[in-house]
Amino acid sequence: MNQDYVGEDYIVIKALENGVTIIGLTRGQDTKFHHTEKLDKGEVMIVQFTAHTSAVKIRGSAEIMHRFGTTMGEGTKKQ
Ligand code: TRP
Repeated sequence: MNQDYVGEDYIVIKALENGVTIIGLTRGQDTKFHHTEKLDKGEVMIVQFTAHTSAVKIRGSAEIMHRFGTTMGEGTKKQ
């Protein structure tokens, strides 16, 4: 078994409104933001957990597809 293996799952995020934010959080003792990405409505991003990223925070209305199924992120803005 590869000792560096950290799961390496992919997740797919589809923005259902403008300004959906995806924030990557660092792996290890500290949990810090290391990357922020903004998606507009209809944009899709495919992301992977890596040696550098162990958690992802998603803000806004989005469809989030992952190995457990699909989770809907709720928008904070009035439609
Ligand atoms: N830096 C933490 C870690 O690599 C990030 C993290 C992963 C985390 N899962 C978590 C933080 C659950 C709080 C709760 O473990």
